[in-house]
Parts: sequence; structure tokens; C-alpha cells
Amino acid sequence: MKKLLFVLLALCTLSVRADEGMWVMGNLSAKTDSILRSLGLELTSEELYSTEHPSLNDAIVQLGGFCSGVVVSPDGLLFTNHHCGFGSIQDHSTTKHDYLKYGFYAKTFEEELPNEGLYVLFHIKTVDVTDLLLGSVPADATDEQKDSIMNAVSLQLMNMVDYSGKGIQSEVNPFYKGSKYFLSVYQRYDDVRLVYAPPQCLGKYGGDTDNWMWPRQTCDFSVFRIYADKDNNPAEYNKENVPYHPRQYAHVSTQGYTEGSYAMTLGYPGSTDRYLSSYGVESTMRTENDVRYQVRGVKLDILNEAMRQSDALRIMYASKYASSSNYWKFSLGQNQALDNLKVIDEKRQVEAELMRWVAEDTIARSRYIGILDSLRVGYEQSFPSLYGYTLWAESGSDILNFVMSNMMGRMFGKHGDDFHAKVEKTYRDIDVSTDKKIFLALLKNYIAHAPNEHFQLTRLQHEVDSVWGGDYDLYVENLYANSIFARPSELKAVHDFAEVAEDPMLDVAMDALTIFYGIMRSHVVIEEYERLLGDGIREMNHDKEYYPDANFTMRLSYGLCKPINFAPGTTGLKEEATDLITSPRSFLNKHEQNPDNLDFELIPQVYKWMKRGKFSKQYIDPRTGQLPLCFLTTNDITGGNSGSGMFDGKGRLIGLAFDGNWEAMSGDLKFDTALQRCIGVDIRWVLSVMDDYSHAKRLIRELTIE
Ligand code: ARG
Repeated sequence: MKKLLFVLLALCTLSVRADEGMWVMGNLSAKTDSILRSLGLELTSEELYSTEHPSLNDAIVQLGGFCSGVVVSPDGLLFTNHHCGFGSIQDHSTTKHDYLKYGFYAKTFEEELPNEGLYVLFHIKTVDVTDLLLGSVPADATDEQKDSIMNAVSLQLMNMVDYSGKGIQSEVNPFYKGSKYFLSVYQRYDDVRLVYAPPQCLGKYGGDTDNWMWPRQTCDFSVFRIYADKDNNPAEYNKENVPYHPRQYAHVSTQGYTEGSYAMTLGYPGSTDRYLSSYGVESTMRTENDVRYQVRGVKLDILNEAMRQSDALRIMYASKYASSSNYWKFSLGQNQALDNLKVIDEKRQVEAELMRWVAEDTIARSRYIGILDSLRVGYEQSFPSLYGYTLWAESGSDILNFVMSNMMGRMFGKHGDDFHAKVEKTYRDIDVSTDKKIFLALLKNYIAHAPNEHFQLTRLQHEVDSVWGGDYDLYVENLYANSIFARPSELKAVHDFAEVAEDPMLDVAMDALTIFYGIMRSHVVIEEYERLLGDGIREMNHDKEYYPDANFTMRLSYGLCKPINFAPGTTGLKEEATDLITSPRSFLNKHEQNPDNLDFELIPQVYKWMKRGKFSKQYIDPRTGQLPLCFLTTNDITGGNSGSGMFDGKGRLIGLAFDGNWEAMSGDLKFDTALQRCIGVDIRWVLSVMDDYSHAKRLIRELTIE
């Protein structure tokens, strides 16, 4: 009986033990730490994170403000995703050297390619500064006083960091929507060079068709190297710089994992809103996802057509297309999953529970009374401005966006040189005739969807009516014929703002910015209510440990390697369990079964290589006898985590996280324990592509493979 009770208890804890959570590196609680160990982590806390000794923490980077990466060699070699390196790969690609299509391999250090603006941050430490910060605000301070005191104290705290080590930077970030604050210290390296990229038909295999979905066969990785000055300190790009020697680099395991093996992901999740109210979820669906999906659909159709016209245009728009289509599909998927998984209903139940709890002691819990009404009214009032803002933000063409962000005097003056560099860089990826098509289509779309009179482009619409007889095609034709911003070569010769002051594109930008300032003025404050709701729920469940929402600080998420077992009753979803790992056969099946879909097209070299199936023995999974391609874990990740290292219980690299799955795309707002998975590319596939396909021996030799 005792034994049965024990088994039952164990089962209960297993099923309650969700792998939900993005835990703050440098601030793991004893409880989290013991869960890690019970699941199979063999590293000590010090080996995971330490301010004294090298630890796994030191091998993880934040890449460029948008991705994560992991250092894998004593010479600063860095693994990240292909879709994270995509912009850099595109920058170096030409129709003659099409690195997107055929891949790239620097055979020597000298051939490694510098990338302007690309940097990495190493996480040095994170400290809880909540008491210092909140403690310095008097109880009767107004919101404005509170803001200014907090800013001043944050600055003071940041000034206490020792910056003598070069490249050191720090920031104070709010957690739990401002109920807690942490100071994070980083070291930044600015010379990051491209070393290797697989052909796109491997690195982006499945394209939009498979994006955000499982099963997956995408070899989503690329390789960079961090460079430093001769003293190993950060330095701007310089030919004389040398490979950076990290405090710690990750060892790679070719031993794999099985269902139930420990797995953890270390990286930089960008943003989640897990404690958002039911009203907030509804608002996200209607004022963000619906709108983004609609507008991007219009834009992507035009881009798609342009990119099919020539290799030059395909390369030019590759990165813009990929990032736009990524969140186009996301917006659709998130709404579908929120509906399927009845997330709003679930949130309403928790909110109702909170209200019952408040009613039990209305004096002690008085600050939560009325919170739901405030949220409901707040979202109702802000519907037009939230909806209008997404529409506005999504509707600019590249040229219009460029003009808006460089308005007026800011273009020239002492920053004149800057301006010319910006023109050079921005217009390299603009085809004026494609931009014109996008401008026209998005303008018409904007006018058709503007939520109310505050969003009308009054001057522009009046001009089209009075001068062009209401013909938008004619108006745009004329605008592009007369604007110097549609003639890049002339724009490069401009030196004074006066020369462009009368430009018609400036008028359009002014119209658009007027609307933007209007939106800012009409902002209804909901954040404060959302924060209070979160505080209430945490207070009600005070024995539960809550992790803070993602905010692009370094996090650890733990869990197990696990396929998806679709729960019975989750209608609309697949019924069966999926495999844990995908195989070369499933890769070829997709190619063969979708002959007309460019997302599964292969260059002949890759087709032959995969078809031949001669992969080095050390990369074959001993249990399946096959090359493992992609796999699933229960690790809790989101955008920004891309390129994060996935580690086994010994802290060895087993994969790179690159995506989530369609069934649980609601994950940023509500984690679904049964359905949510992290999709990773198995490190053995990464190695086989570098080694067997590209013969990049010099890179393989740098790694420590166990
Ligand atoms: N969904 C992935 C992420 O957001 C990006 C995958 C890129 N692939 C693509 N087909 N666009 O991290």
C-alpha cells in the first residue's frame, strides 16, 4: 500500500511538474536547482553559473540583439541558427557568390567575413536590486516621481559596476512587470565574423511551409567566430584582431539522448506575456495578430512575386521576406492555438478564482477590488489605438520608413556622414519599383482599414482627391517620380537638408508621424492594472514559484526529450504521438512528395548527398541506426532563444534550439504542458553537414567532441 501510495505520489508530482518556466541565470532558487538535479542534471550549481569560476554560463551569448548562440571552441567559434545568421549571409551574397543558395565555408581564418553591426554579449552576472530600487521610492510618490527616482537609482547602480575591463555594460531590467528589478552585467564583443553556412535548402529546409511546425527536417545552424584584440579584449573590427579565447566553451556530445533524457536550453528568450489577463489576450488577438497577418499578407505577395523575377531581387529581399513571413505565420498560428486551447476561458477561470479570494478578505485584499473592470474598460477604450497602431506600424514601405526615421535636420548637420552611410546601407536592399508597389498596396490597405477619423491621412487623402481625382495609382506614380528618396544615386549626392525640404515624400512622412503622435497621446494606461493582476495571482498562490516573463535576459529552461503525445479530446489536432527524432528518409519524403513547392527544393549537390546517405559513423544515432536530424524537448523557449544551446545532463551540447510547434503557438501567452515543445536541430546533423557534406575539417578539429 505504501508503495502504491508512493508510486501514485510520484506520478502526481511528475504530471504537475510542468517544464514551464524561463528561470533567471544567476538567480535560480534552491527549489529550481533541486528540480534540475532530480530530472538528471549532473553539473553543480557552480558549474552552471558562477561569478568566480568559469561555468557553462560563460559559453552562452546574446547575438546582435535578436538571437542567442553558444561558443564551442577555445578559439571563439560560435554556433547559432541559420535564420539568425541569415542577414549576414545575405549581406555577403551576390549573384556570383550566392552563399544563401550554396552555403559558405571559410577555409582559413583570413577568409572569415566581418559583419558590420553584429555583436555578442557575454553574461557576467545578474543581481537582484529590487529592495534598493523600490525601497528608495517614498510611499506617497506620484507616478512621475517614482519614474524619475527609479531612473536615477538605476543609473547609480549601473555606475557602481566596474567598467575597467572594457566592453563591460550593464542594465537594470524590470521583472514581473516591474514588481522586481535585476541588474545584469555583460561584456560586449563587436568583431564577429561569418565562418560557415550550409546551403539554404538545408539551413531553411521546409521554408514557410514548415516554419513553426513539427515534424521538422531543417538544419538550422550557421557558424561565426568572435575576434578580440591581442589581449583578448573587445575591439572594433580590425584585420589585426585575433580569435577570442573564451572563459569557457561548450563540449559537444555525439552520444545523443532518448525519450525522457534530461535536456536544458540556455539563451535569451525575448518576450512573453504569460500573466496577461483574458482581456489582454483578446486584445492581442484582435488588435495585433489579425492586423499583422492581414497587412503582411498583402506585402508578402508583392515581395514573393518580385523575388521570383531574378536572383538579384531574390537575394536582395531574402532577409526582409523571411523575418516578415516568420511573424505573419506566427500571428495566424497564435490565434488558432489560443482558440483551440481555449486560453481565454482558462484565464477567465483564474480571474474568477482571484475575485473569490479577494471577497474572502476585502480589507487586506482591497487593492485588487475592481481590477477586472479596470482591465475590461481599459482595453475597450484603447481598442482603436492598439488596432490602429499595429496597422500603422505594419504599413510603411522601406523608403517611407527610412524617411520617417531620419526626418528633418537629423539627416544632416554633424551627422551628415552617418546619413550617407545609412543611405548606402539601406538602399542596397531596396528595389525602388518593388518599393513603389508595396507603398501603393499598403496605402490603399491602410485607408480601407483605418479604425476611425484619427487615423486618416487627412492631407494626403485630400491631395489625392483634389489633384488626382481620387486615383491612388496615379498619385503614387507621381510621388515616386518626383521624390529624390526614390532616386538613391541622387540622394547620395545631397549634402544639406534644404535640398530635400520640399520633397513630397517628406509630406507623406509628416502625415504618418502626425498620426503616430496622436496614438501616443491617446494611450490608455493598462500596464499598471496588468501588473496588479499578476501580483494578485501570485499572492493568492503564494506557495507556487513563479518565473518572470521573458525580457531578453539570460534564462535557463529545463525539461526532457519528449515527443508530442496529443492528448485525447484536443480536437482539431493530430491524434497520434509523433516521433522524437526525424530522419533522412523523412527529409527526402518531403522533397519527393512536394515537387512543386520551392520550400522543399534541393540543389543537386544536397539531393545527391542526402540520397546517398553515407554519413560518418560517429554521427549515427546508436539506437535508431540513422542520422538524427531534428528533435523535441519540453524546454520552454520563445523568439530570441533561436540559436540557444541545448544541453544534456552532463552539460554537453546536444542541439541548437530553433523553433516551437504549431499546436501550442499560444505559448507566449500561456504555456501548454501537454503540447508545447522546443524544436532543436541535433548537433550530430550539424556536424555531419559541416564534416561529410562540406569537408570543413578545420572547424570539426576545433571542437571537443565526446
Ligand atoms: N520560427 C522560427 C523562429 O522564430 C524561425 C524559423 C525561420 N525559418 C523560416 N522558414 N522563416 O525562431
